[in-house]
Amino acid sequence: MSRITTSTLRKMKQDGEKIACLTAYDASFAQILVEAGVEILLVGDSLGMILQGQDSTLPVKLEDMVYHTRMVRAASGDALVMADMPFMTYIKPIQALATAGRLMKEGGAHMVKLEGGAPMVETVAHLAEHGIPVCAHLGLLPQSVNKLGGYKVQGRSDEQAEAMLRDARAMEDAGADCLLLECVPSALAATISAALAIPVIGIGAGPHCDAQVLVLYDMLGITPGKRPKFSKDFLLQGGDIRGAVRAYVQAVKDGSFPADEHTF
Ligand code: KIV
Repeated sequence: MSRITTSTLRKMKQDGEKIACLTAYDASFAQILVEAGVEILLVGDSLGMILQGQDSTLPVKLEDMVYHTRMVRAASGDALVMADMPFMTYIKPIQALATAGRLMKEGGAHMVKLEGGAPMVETVAHLAEHGIPVCAHLGLLPQSVNKLGGYKVQGRSDEQAEAMLRDARAMEDAGADCLLLECVPSALAATISAALAIPVIGIGAGPHCDAQVLVLYDMLGITPGKRPKFSKDFLLQGGDIRGAVRAYVQAVKDGSFPADEHTF
């Protein structure tokens, strides 16, 4: 098989084939994920909480992201490596370009992810013009947790839902290659997925998205504290780490994950 690209992902969406994505932060796990058939490895800034023990993603540095992206890329096989742009490293388009440049040149990322809707249109267009694949993260934006007042489901009111659909279209028009929806009601995520040609990745966004992502340590049941409602402990089902990741990929592909109990 050849490397998964933005074209592969679009084709999978057109063909109705679900796409499996998981977070990865190092080479050993990346290899296990790739062997199990995960198509997108997300080097998420969730590593601030998962690996560093911080209480949010805000303190994560660009150096941290470059370092972990390089480790994941080294064992990425044919998977596409997506790296998060950390908080405050993409305030202006020119700064975003420099950040994305480092994640791609030094970290080896194939795509970068940023959080935000309408205010990010110019930035997404600037990156796209420079040949940088972008995933736009909408819904619950962990980097804005202090402004949002907590980790809460977004887009519940008609007004919020319309604004999110508008933002999603604006991101696609600006040149984004995929969208990620976090903690969004299932019906809204279904509408957005159907409205766009680019693949939509969901986390806590129901079964109708084109792709699913979970935080690796959540789906292995090793994240301290309460597991989020939208996640599932696949280690119970899979028996060991390789089995858990295979069970996740299978469940995403056959549409059995996420089930109603994981959905808003
Ligand atoms: O940082 C991350 O792991 C993410 C997921 C929550 C999608 O952005």
